[in-house]
Amino acid sequence: MCGIVGAVAQRDVAEILVEGLRRLEYRGYDSAGVAIVDSNSELTRLRRLGKVQELVDATEQQEVAGGTGIAHTRWATHGEPSEANAHPHMSSDISVVHNGIIENHEELRQLLKDRGYSFESQTDTEVIAHLVEWEMREATSLVEALQKTVKQLEGAYGTVVMDRKDPSRLVVARSGSPIVIGYGVGENFLASDQLALLNVTRRFSYLEEGDVAEITRRKVTIFDLSGNPVEREVVESNAEHDAGDKGKYRHFMQKEIFEQPTALINTVEGRLTKDAVITESIGVNAAEILEKVEHVQIVACGTSYNAGMVARYWFESLAGVSCDVEIASEFRYRKFVTRPNSLLITLSQSGETADTLAALRLAKEKGYMSAMTICNVAGSSLVRESDFAFMTRAGAEIGVASTKAFTTQLSALLMLVTALGKERQYVDAVKEAEIVKALHSLPDQINSALSYDKQIEALAEDFADKHHTLFLGRGEFYPIAMEASLKLKEISYIHAEAYAAGELKHGPLALIDADMPVVVVAPNNELLEKLKSNIEEVRARGGLLYVFADESAGFEADESMKIITMPNVSDITAPIYYTIPMQLLSYYVALIKGTDVDQPRNLAKSVTVE
Ligand code: M6R
Repeated sequence: MCGIVGAVAQRDVAEILVEGLRRLEYRGYDSAGVAIVDSNSELTRLRRLGKVQELVDATEQQEVAGGTGIAHTRWATHGEPSEANAHPHMSSDISVVHNGIIENHEELRQLLKDRGYSFESQTDTEVIAHLVEWEMREATSLVEALQKTVKQLEGAYGTVVMDRKDPSRLVVARSGSPIVIGYGVGENFLASDQLALLNVTRRFSYLEEGDVAEITRRKVTIFDLSGNPVEREVVESNAEHDAGDKGKYRHFMQKEIFEQPTALINTVEGRLTKDAVITESIGVNAAEILEKVEHVQIVACGTSYNAGMVARYWFESLAGVSCDVEIASEFRYRKFVTRPNSLLITLSQSGETADTLAALRLAKEKGYMSAMTICNVAGSSLVRESDFAFMTRAGAEIGVASTKAFTTQLSALLMLVTALGKERQYVDAVKEAEIVKALHSLPDQINSALSYDKQIEALAEDFADKHHTLFLGRGEFYPIAMEASLKLKEISYIHAEAYAAGELKHGPLALIDADMPVVVVAPNNELLEKLKSNIEEVRARGGLLYVFADESAGFEADESMKIITMPNVSDITAPIYYTIPMQLLSYYVALIKGTDVDQPRNLAKSVTVE
């Protein structure tokens, strides 16, 4: 989704700004722009439709000097992707970039038109530029003008303002869209994500909701919602990120699929002994909190929601605790009943998903016993606003299609479930040792699943010319089918649906014909015989089946059924294991179709607007 970078320095900042945008490219965007002022108040604004590279070329063709600047990648919400709608937007001397959505923009647009302003774009953002310009007429400083402006805005924003007449400062405001300040030596920066600034600084502070800040070369001054000066903790980041480095891989998604054994090792490290989960590693007071839990409510979006759906089976069967899972955009607008001693768990790779964050805030208001997040990005909004955070350690995930974040979320959830079951005396030492052994074995098993790479690449040919695919699973493999279907549709643009196999005869069976491949996730567990009946239902109607099953499942291939035989693995971690061939399948189908695997059309990595 949209990205922001800003800098106030003595040196020319054009390269820093566009490199920052390049590092945010993975989030998804359709246009990019930059505005830079030099010490003589000469301003250059460049905007380009398409890739950041177009903007880089423009800054190379035309020398862009100046030490103060703002830059933006736009993911269109109001107004089509076009150069005119790309940020920065201007009103006289004021330039503005903005992430988020201004919900009352139409009313403000009318007000500003009545004051004599004319609009050059269809965006909601342009109202901010004109409002600041208007407020500057009376205000004693740019900060004051922005403070007065944000009081008139409804919706979400992370917005940065630059005044051509005063190139010594930038001012920035945050409400609903993250902003991080980066501290340099004799120069300071800001961005919507610290990844944008990792090549210029490692010292960051995060603006809180309602904060407005002024950034000069030597000083950062932050004001809270009431306008009082506040300090925000400055932290040293140890994040690793080189957005340009795919190593030997063709795409980030492929690299991230293959990084899963390491990501899983990192996620369990220091959290498991040989045969037990270390409860304190989940959080300082985790034992105390878990002991009281009588219900779990998981809230998440997309792939993270699918991880929650798998965990529901685990919470109920392994820990004996009732668990509900809900899509954040539904939860946040539903009148729900808060159960006594209910633990809220948000799941998120980015920690910035707008709906999940709103759900967390609502749940805190509604009296959940405690709110924890399982998240991959340290310092993200969810991590900062939750009572405690259990970090997945997948490393930066750049591909829009989530892969290693999902499998590390599942392993974190399994550790949590085990700790909870232990606190409730539901999981005994023998069961705990079995789960922990399965978790320890997982990285090697995932390596073996990755060796199916070539076989699955060949299989992908069967799917590339299809318009639809159906994925089936039962029990905790139903959400694995959901995740497989989400992966395929988002990167190959093939319409895919997932069904709990028992639901087939309640409708989807009508879709079955030779043009509808049916992928079945079929490990050998207590539901295998039921699943076999569902497979027969498909076969009897001329469907083409692709069954991922373990060697003991007893399937035999024929002209209507291809069998992909996987080794036997523990029932407990099998959902994580079976995810790998599904990821590879969608990756190779997309590769054959020639889609933009890492930045699929219309999608953004981090969905920071509703
Ligand atoms: O960062 P989050 O985990 O909160 O993101 C949630 C979804 O936007 C995300 O999982 C999305 O569905 C992915 N593109 C799926 O691959």
